[in-house]
This record gives sequence, C-alpha cells and structure tokens, in this order.
Amino acid sequence: MIDDLWYKNGVIYCLSVGTYMDSDGDGIGDFRGLQRRLDYLHGLGITAIWLMPFQTSPGRDNGYDISDYYSVDPRFGTLGDFVEFTHGCKQRGIRVIIDLVVNHTSDQHKWFREARRSKDSEYRDWYVWSDKKPANANTGMVFPGVQKSTWTRDKEAGAWYFHRFYDFQPDLNTSNPHVQAEILKIMGFWIQLGVSGFRMDAVPFIIATKGPKVRKPVEQYDMLRSLREFLQWRQGDSIILAEANVLPETDMEYFGADGDRMHMMFNFHVNQHLFYALASGDSRPLMKSLKATKPRPATAQWGLFLRNHDELDLGRLTKAQQQSVFKAFGPDKDMQLYDRGIRRRLAPMLGGDRRRLELAYSLMFTLPGTPVLRYGDELAMGDNLDLPERECARTPMQWSTEPHAGFTEGHKPCAPVIDKGPYGYEHVNAAKQRRDPNSMLNWTERIVRMRKEVPEIGWGDFEVITVRDPGVLAIRYDWRNNSVLFVHNLDEKPREVSFKVGLPGEASKLLVNLLTEDHSRSDKGGRHTILLEGYGYRWYRVGGLDYLLKRSDIDTDAAGKTAHPA
Ligand code: NOJ
Repeated sequence: MIDDLWYKNGVIYCLSVGTYMDSDGDGIGDFRGLQRRLDYLHGLGITAIWLMPFQTSPGRDNGYDISDYYSVDPRFGTLGDFVEFTHGCKQRGIRVIIDLVVNHTSDQHKWFREARRSKDSEYRDWYVWSDKKPANANTGMVFPGVQKSTWTRDKEAGAWYFHRFYDFQPDLNTSNPHVQAEILKIMGFWIQLGVSGFRMDAVPFIIATKGPKVRKPVEQYDMLRSLREFLQWRQGDSIILAEANVLPETDMEYFGADGDRMHMMFNFHVNQHLFYALASGDSRPLMKSLKATKPRPATAQWGLFLRNHDELDLGRLTKAQQQSVFKAFGPDKDMQLYDRGIRRRLAPMLGGDRRRLELAYSLMFTLPGTPVLRYGDELAMGDNLDLPERECARTPMQWSTEPHAGFTEGHKPCAPVIDKGPYGYEHVNAAKQRRDPNSMLNWTERIVRMRKEVPEIGWGDFEVITVRDPGVLAIRYDWRNNSVLFVHNLDEKPREVSFKVGLPGEASKLLVNLLTEDHSRSDKGGRHTILLEGYGYRWYRVGGLDYLLKRSDIDTDAAGKTAHPA
C-alpha cells in the first residue's frame, strides 16, 4: 500500500552529534551522549532523525568538508558507537537519515591529496581542474562576502581547481563514472550500518556540468534516477531527501515525472514565502507558493521547515518582500548574511513571542509535506550573534541548569553554551520545560502527536479555501473519505472570517476542533464564521470524530470514482 511510505507522514528532527550531548567530558558531543538522549526524542514523538555530518573532517564547515566517508570522526566516537546508535533508534521506531555530502570533499581527503600530486594520478580526474585561471573564476560563489572565488590555484598541482563552496572544499568531478561508483559505495556502506536514507547536500551542484569551459552549468537529471535505483535495490524503504533550492518549474525534474528520482525535497520556495507571510501578515504570496509547488508524484514528499543550520535564504523573494522580512526579523547588519539571508534562530526572530512561535510551528506542521524540526526549537532556543557566520545558530543543546546546560561535564564546550539573557540555559532548558505543562516543549510534543494523528496532511490533496482576508490562510486536505481544515491568522489583530468548507453533504456543517473545545457549526447554508485571536490558529476535523469509521482503504474522488490503492 502507498501508505507504507514512512517519510510521507512523520516528523523529522535535525541534530548534529557534536552539539547534542558529550559523554566523555572533552566538550564535544558524541554518539554515546546522543544514545542517552534517545528516550527524550522518543518522548517528543519524532519519527526520524536527520543526523548532520559526523564523518572524519577537519571541521572547517561544520563537518560538510569530509576527509573520510567511511568513518566516524574520532571526536564523536567509533563505527561501533554509530551502530549502537542506529540500533537504539530502531528499537524505538525512529529512522535515521544522514547527510550525503558528495558535491565536494575536504582538501584534506586522500583523493584530493593524491590528485594534486600529479597529473598522472588516478584521482586527478576525480576533481575539476584548469591550467589557467578560468574567465568566470569570480562568479557563482555560494558564500558571497566570505568566499572570494570559485577557482583557486593549487601550488602543488600547478593548476586551478573548482570549488562551488569554500576553497577548502574542492568539487568532485561528479560526471566521472569512478566518482559516481564511489558515491553508490558510500550509500551502500551506511545503509548497511542501519540508516534509512540520506539528506543529499547541494543536489543541483552535484548534477551540474562542471569545468573551466562551462559557462552555464547544465543539470544532468538522469543521475538522480541512478542514485535512487541503487538505493532502492539495496534497501527498498530508504529515501533521499534533496537539498535543492530551485524554482518550482524544475521541481518535477528532481522528483521525476514517474516518481523515479528524489523521494523528498526541502521546500525552500514555501519556506521563504512563509517567512514573508509571518513578517507582513499577508498570506497571498504564500498561497501562490503552495500552488506553485503543488505538482508532485504521489510517492514524493516535501520537507517543510522553518529554520535550519544555514542562513534563512530569502533569495527567491522580490526585493520589496526581502526588505520587509529583513525589517521584521533581521534589521541589524550583523543579523544578515551573504547578502541574501538572516542567520538567527527562530525564537529571537519572532521576539520570543509565544503566540507567533505557535503560529509559525502550527503552519509548519500543517502545510503540505513532512515537518522538519531543528534541535532546540522545541525549547525556543536562541542564538549567539557574537559567533561568526552561521555558527550563531549552532550552539549546544540546553538540557538543564547544570554547568554548560548539562551538555558537557568538561571545562570548555566546543561551542559556547548560551548563558546570558532571556535565552540563556538557566531560563531555556529541557529539564525545566518538561515539568511545566505550558512550556514550548510540551506544546511541541502535543503538536507532534496531533500531526501524527492527521495523516490527511501527508497523504491527501489540499485545497486553499477562500476566506477573502489576506491575513488569514485556510487550507483543507482530503484523503480516503476524511477531511481536515486548518485556519491561521497571520495578523496580530483578531480576525473574523467566514467561509464554506467546499465539500458536499452534511458533514461539512460541523468542524471539530482538534486542540480545544471550540468547535464550529455552520449556518443553514453551510457557512462557518470563526473569530480568530491575533496570531490564532485552528485545527479542525470536518464532520464528527467518527472519521475513522468512515475512512476507506482506497481513494474516492468527489464524483465517486475510486483509485487504485497503490
Ligand atoms: C549545504 C549545507 O547545508 C551547508 O551547511 C554547507 O555549508 C554547504 N552545503 C556546503 O556543503
């Protein structure tokens, strides 16, 4: 059955082992520490962990500069510890996906060290070289302001090498069949050690043509199918979640018209418009972005997120929209990054306003896709703008009021724990919030539980409902004879909206609130009138709570036509 696809209806939690919990007192989080926190994650109810890079690395880009793909960085533990961790997750029904960072390696990787040594090295063609400085060397930087060029001269090689990201991250020549075979081998290795798939880093760059003569890179989409084929052959239920910040026009190229390429993609398009909606109180561009990203194969899914470990990239918004997000959430220059984004965590961006945080998360949990939650956001953790670039939002998890927030017993944590101001660990920590029934942690746990009880979001078709108020977004999902409806008020002022559910029959006259006792009955004509407080949100089931008795095993459309179940 199609609803076997686990990634269509879960909650993914993203964390990095180095900042989660340290078990040996060296100030660096490790797998043993993480292992001890699995019951916390189980309690929170998440269904999958996205584990950020943990392989051996000089650590100059938060681990996204790998120097050995088949290892665990000794600071984090051993391969044995890793397998204990994936096993512990399995015992608790939690899947693990890990980063697959194969657009580039670290310049310390054995392959690059071999490649630079001689033109005759078997690894030379694993990277992208030019004898002369290419004409476009000063274009295409991903980190403008920090990264000066995309080609750097290597003395030892006597040639220039291409690097889409920092200069210590030479790009792999992903068109080389040997490199392609090695990528499959890496995937096969980790699958064997208990992971359920990969968050694939920088996908558009991996599949792009690369070289000194390439003026406009061309995406080789076919490569995506080979990756998927291999993975599915090795382990049928494993997935690839693609990091691809691309325009909606190309989404289907990534998913594949037959659903034969990427299983999931992060929805960057909706992410940016969601922040615009939160900043401006105008839901219309968000609505448009939902419609633009609606087409996808039945087996594919969006990853819906608010903040991640990178900057909030606003590059796809108009200049005016960008300005309004900057003004609302990152007005100071040092809150902004790479001329296109904001580097803060969500809670400080929203002024620590609980109503707005709930609104933002309620949206993330109810927009089409699978929610991806960043560690610490369940506590409304803050950031440390004294740290450079994106490091400000990568501080250690705040567990308790113990020294270093219970993250380490060592003297010096790898990154400073936030210990000042309203987001300091004395105020914001898991231990305290666990005991407080009204805490953000307990709210999140409840919303995770409710999200899992509403599979219609993950599986169903959605329709935006007209409410004739740009400040309010109403969305309905239909799946297997059941419908749910969500209403969000993006404005700080209360709003009264009136709408029809848009379904035939008596059922749509009753909206049962899933979070409070505040249900809605329509007038005779089927029209509901709802008063939403400022930043208010509602989760409704259409009809009664006997919905499970009505759920069918197959899909039936409005005209009564049934569809094949798979
Ligand atoms: C995307 C990752 O999310 C980011 O953190 C990293 O710097 C680049 N890829 C390079 O790997």
